[in-house]
Amino acid sequence: MIPVFPSSYGLCGLEYTKRIPDALSYESAFINFPALMDYDIIFFGGTGDLAWRKLMPALYEAFRHGALPGQGRILAVARDPLDSEAYRAWLRDRFGQLEWTEPFDEPMFRSFVTRVSYLKMDLGDASNYASLSQWIDQRQAEAVVFYLAVAPQLFIGICDALAKAGLNRPNMRIVLEKPLGHDLDSASLINAAVLRVFKEDQVFRIDHYLGKQSVQNLMALRFGNSLFEPLWRREWISSVQITIAEDLGVEQRGSYYDRSGALRDMVQNHLLQLLCMVAMEPPASDDADSVRDEKLKVLRSLRTYDKDELSTHVIRGQYRAGLSQGRPVCGYLDEVGVARDSTTETYVALRLEIENWRWAGVPFFLRTGKRLAARGAEIVINFRPVPHPIFQSPGGADHNRLVIRLQPDDTIELHLLAKASRRDRAEQGRLVPVALDLDFKEAFGRQSIEAYERLLRKVIAGRLDLFVRFDEQQAAWRWVMPILEHWARHPEECRAYTAGSWGPAAASALTAREGIAWPEER
Ligand code: BG6
Repeated sequence: MIPVFPSSYGLCGLEYTKRIPDALSYESAFINFPALMDYDIIFFGGTGDLAWRKLMPALYEAFRHGALPGQGRILAVARDPLDSEAYRAWLRDRFGQLEWTEPFDEPMFRSFVTRVSYLKMDLGDASNYASLSQWIDQRQAEAVVFYLAVAPQLFIGICDALAKAGLNRPNMRIVLEKPLGHDLDSASLINAAVLRVFKEDQVFRIDHYLGKQSVQNLMALRFGNSLFEPLWRREWISSVQITIAEDLGVEQRGSYYDRSGALRDMVQNHLLQLLCMVAMEPPASDDADSVRDEKLKVLRSLRTYDKDELSTHVIRGQYRAGLSQGRPVCGYLDEVGVARDSTTETYVALRLEIENWRWAGVPFFLRTGKRLAARGAEIVINFRPVPHPIFQSPGGADHNRLVIRLQPDDTIELHLLAKASRRDRAEQGRLVPVALDLDFKEAFGRQSIEAYERLLRKVIAGRLDLFVRFDEQQAAWRWVMPILEHWARHPEECRAYTAGSWGPAAASALTAREGIAWPEER
């Protein structure tokens, strides 16, 4: 049976010890899904990695979940000389290379793929858009989505060509994949070109971290429960740590990555978006602009460091040869596509401050890196210790922590302190850490959906709440620019770290100065 997601429920109650009834879906628990529209979706870059690794599988999953409206059509567009039949066979072959959480359902795939067609096009040639226009005009879909899964250098040309072909009508939407620009100026140029052709509410800028279930859970935790909000401020929270760690290296993306680096690839977008989700004020409603207005305020409140503070508050690193999962791996400079004398960072750790009443004086530590000891992403909220401790608490276990884990698992843990009830007399009377642990996979089981499926369903439904508005993106670029400029003047600040470690030692010093350790150091 295909599980059908109800179109819209609000939050559902979740008792700590109880499973929710099967009739309520995981999705319905945390976001409202308005009914999806009858759609045509066009993937530019239809034979690219993103298309077969993420986008097509996400649509296939949405289909399997019964979420795609019946008449919808999917068109892959690329330069390769294929026809629709050949593309479908190619897609099946690529799907065979993916890991699926459940056994692959062949009949389901065959049924899904009948909706998929292929169109050979040179995206740089405006005359090629006539055939696209004909395909679209074969019927009147409620929503037509152009998904630009191509290099950002093509964005401006594609938008101009779409406009010339009259493909920017009110029922048309455009989805932009990152990287959206290389710096503030190039991002502004792209956005200006897009906004000459489409209105802001037709533009869906993807940050796939916003599509992760745990980010939905964070919103629900903060704004669907009254428990935490009174404590969610400087009086009770001493610091926040956000980590996105990857054990992989740059894989086949060396030449892209070498021009980007971790700050552009992960901090300007994913990490700053997560920071906004943690730090924003409660929005007036869950509509897109209410949420995005609050995120924008956070970005605008970020303290900009002086030139001489940047070396202290921002740590940059690059991996050297080492071990990953027990097997030897090369250093960054030996990766394919990377310049042998590159000073591009594969690791960043930063200390940020948010200058507003809620957060003044609370340090936010963010870090991300490739070839680290493990893959994982989490947000740790460190609460202040009790003002007058009457119990002994060994080994630094002196404060509560809320840990929101995004991956590999989707969990929320509340770390409390309890009295040890051990036989060992020495331990008696001491406080020991215990965790209340909520595992969303366990609670909601098979009904969970992946980020790209959620985001594509939002695009088809026309909901912008999980997408980044232009001014947010601009504010994020504005904040990272002084760091990029500082690094251009001081390439020597890029420190080496061994693949398979937790990054440069200086990142530990960054938090240790304030008496805080990274999770793996506790
Ligand atoms: C992408 C970055 O946006 O996010 C990649 O370009 C990175 O370099 C990826 O590997 C991480 O995403 P996830 O969802 O695997 O944590």
